[in-house]
Amino acid sequence: MDKTTTLLSSLLFLFTFLTTSFSKNLCHKDDKNTLLKIKKSLNNPYHLSTWDPQSDCCSWYGLECGDATVNHRVISLAIFSGQISGQIPLEVGDLPYLQTLIFRKLTNLTGQIPPTITKLKNLRFLWLSWTNLTGPVPGFLSQLMELDYLNLSFNELSGSIPSSLSLLPKLKYIDLSRNKLTGSIPESFGSFPGTVPDLYLSHNQLSGSIPKSLGNLDFNRIDFSWNKLEGDASLLFGANKTTGYIDLSRNMFQFDLSKVKIPKTLGILDLNHNGITGNIPVQWTEAPLQFFNVSYNKLCGRIPSGGKLQTFDSSSYFHNKCLCGAPLKSCK
Ligand SMILES: *[C@@H]1O[C@H](CO)[C@@H](O)[C@H](O)[C@H]1NC(C)=O
Ligand SMILES: *[C@@H]1O[C@H](CO)[C@@H](O)[C@H](O)[C@H]1NC(C)=O
Ligand SMILES: *[C@@H]1O[C@H](CO)[C@@H](O)[C@H](O)[C@H]1NC(C)=O
Ligand SMILES: *[C@@H]1O[C@H](CO)[C@@H](O)[C@H](O)[C@H]1NC(C)=O
Ligand SMILES: *[C@@H]1O[C@H](CO)[C@@H](O)[C@H](O)[C@H]1NC(C)=O
Repeated sequence: MDKTTTLLSSLLFLFTFLTTSFSKNLCHKDDKNTLLKIKKSLNNPYHLSTWDPQSDCCSWYGLECGDATVNHRVISLAIFSGQISGQIPLEVGDLPYLQTLIFRKLTNLTGQIPPTITKLKNLRFLWLSWTNLTGPVPGFLSQLMELDYLNLSFNELSGSIPSSLSLLPKLKYIDLSRNKLTGSIPESFGSFPGTVPDLYLSHNQLSGSIPKSLGNLDFNRIDFSWNKLEGDASLLFGANKTTGYIDLSRNMFQFDLSKVKIPKTLGILDLNHNGITGNIPVQWTEAPLQFFNVSYNKLCGRIPSGGKLQTFDSSSYFHNKCLCGAPLKSCK
């Protein structure tokens, strides 16, 4: 090859490279059709003004396409903090490669979670939060076998927690807090097939006692606070567990603390506002506590000295029956 040919072929290569990488419309036509239907179903909000049929949907607001291995299909739809009114469009179920679905901070998003969501067989991350969604936490979510993260917090969801959620093998986070859920915690939550998920159920109206089956689990984090749960919660504890975070505050739990051993990994423990009796065990000085609150219970006896227990002020201990010793008044 002479110099001119080399130069020409280089230029040709550069030209092809530039045109394919900058002007190619990566968006799959089926996805674009679906997205335009979704936009229409949300009444063509200004928030989605970049969703212009003339442009590549992979560059639209809130969207992410996968790479060439999935034909640049849409893998993520994340809409938040906009003036959007209406319901979750049924067409979200027609984005078959979707892994992430987020509708967040959209207070005028109403209606129920649509069953078409079960068509999203690749869905890993479902975050519908801070909206005005009503209706139940649907049992059909248990068909989303890839689901890793479920966050339906800060909605108006009602009814009871579907026991079928425990069928999901990859679930690592369940956050159903700040809804209007009633009924009890499902017995089935004692038998997740995979890792034990972090469980956030606070600020609902859950009642009944904690199922015995949960005692076998080694949770990482549990937050059952601000409900109407009762009975014995001691089964959640245990010296051999590796739990880091337990919040049971503002319930109606009644059990004797005296023989309860806490995990040596526990950093956060909030038990305030329950009906817990007995005394604080000496073993509790062994935990690396950073936050601790047992106020407003019916505890009695000496606060063991040592460990982290004296690093908290009296408000962590006040309003009990007869607790004494630092940081409260010394025992008589
Ligand atoms: C919600 O809807 C109301 C009534 O249509 C409207 O006034 C308000 O601006 C909307 N808010 C948002 C965040 O879209
Ligand atoms: C959405 O929820 C907020 C706060 O709960 C409420 O003030 C508002 O009226 C609700 N909006 C609609 C459209 O339901
Ligand atoms: C769920 O969403 C809420 C608000 O959108 C957030 O504060 C919370 O941390 C999330 N929960 C988890 C487990 O990520
Ligand atoms: C905790 O672990 C120790 C040592 O591994 C074992 O001997 C003991 O039986 C366990 N206790 C419980 C309550 O499982
Ligand atoms: C413990 O909880 C009570 C009741 O909610 C509260 O008044 C107090 O300030 C809390 N103390 C700490 C250290 O969190």
